[in-house]
Amino acid sequence: MKIQKFRKRIGLIGFGCVGQGLYDVVEANRHLGWEIGCICVKDKEKTRSLPASAFTYDVQEVLQDPSLDIIAELISDTKEALGILRQALQQGKTVVSANKKVIAENLPELIQLQQRHGGVLLYEASVCGSIPVLRTLEAYYGSEPLVEVRGILNGSSNYILSKLHAEHIDFQAALAQAQELGFAEADPSLDVEGTDALHKLCIMAAHAYGLLVHPDDVLHLGIQYISSEAVELAAALGCRIKLVGSLKATPTGQIELRVLPTLIPETDALYDVEAEFNGLEIEARFAGKQFLKGRGAGSHPTGSAVWADVTATIRGYRYTYPKLCTSQATATSGNEQITVLLQGQSDRLAELQDLVQPANQYKIIGQSQVILSLTPQQLKQHESFLKQQGIFVAAIPESVALDIVPEKYRSEEAVPVGSL
Ligand code: HSE
Repeated sequence: MKIQKFRKRIGLIGFGCVGQGLYDVVEANRHLGWEIGCICVKDKEKTRSLPASAFTYDVQEVLQDPSLDIIAELISDTKEALGILRQALQQGKTVVSANKKVIAENLPELIQLQQRHGGVLLYEASVCGSIPVLRTLEAYYGSEPLVEVRGILNGSSNYILSKLHAEHIDFQAALAQAQELGFAEADPSLDVEGTDALHKLCIMAAHAYGLLVHPDDVLHLGIQYISSEAVELAAALGCRIKLVGSLKATPTGQIELRVLPTLIPETDALYDVEAEFNGLEIEARFAGKQFLKGRGAGSHPTGSAVWADVTATIRGYRYTYPKLCTSQATATSGNEQITVLLQGQSDRLAELQDLVQPANQYKIIGQSQVILSLTPQQLKQHESFLKQQGIFVAAIPESVALDIVPEKYRSEEAVPVGSL
């Protein structure tokens, strides 16, 4: 039977923070000819903003409904989400997703499924919420080499860091606020441990550099062990601590990528990216630097990014991964020395110094903080140790003058080895 269609219909899977956001945006734009045709959820008991009759609990009702023009997969269960994406793409359907973990961990397969069956997968909402990052990297910079792409990619951790700096509140209280406001993941350890930023970074790597890299292979350290002493020290150096994801092309054709807390001075565009906002600096070889800033989390900003994908598909938009065809790039954490602040129990810090034998040990700041010079590769090598021992790590850019470390942070036994 041929179904007479008047409006374009979206099959929505998931009605959490982002699903509700997409619903509101679609309803507010009904004049554009779209409607939510079907909504699938899992939990029958949960109180929702729509009557129970608005929902189905059988995902196959969405996946096998020929009257739907597009499927929006917006659930947090990664195993189920992957199954949904696979089935939809195997049927050659058009599907949009905001599921960064699933996309980052399975991008080669998801690209292959699109090529094999002719389906389309868009996922702008998976990276930096409302900021059109992937479109910019893919459609605009698809043919220009990029020097560096770096930014704040996780709204919740940025919200927490902003609160720690501005209000000196407790870490757990700031995290609870981020959860309350709908910024955090269902499992907030993904936010604070830097894993969510890592997933976004790996997705960006494919579009910015044609690099397919599995998240497990990338150095990422989070903010879960940050202390008020580290925040105070950063402030005394004129900086704010931010969780920064970075991608950089090396002269030898490798792509250096990592997620690291970093001391950001006032002169850096990332300094003023506060609360749940994300910010991304793109440096292209010929265009120079550009900066994108916007809401990186939240129901409506993320729903708006999903909506942008939904409507773009109708105009025939799809990712072409232009740099994948030409790139021979391989991934590295980085071999050049960087300066890092390490904070944790003094015996653990001493053990780490024995392990890495740092080239320069600038200062021992009290019992619990030390500033060293080492390579990101060394951090990657000892990533598990750092996490198991609860050591907080923050990179200190060269532009931050360490000779202004205030006297009160220098311990009696401070032993500056090497030069500042
Ligand atoms: N939990 C994520 C964040 C949501 O805080 O950035 C948006 O991806």
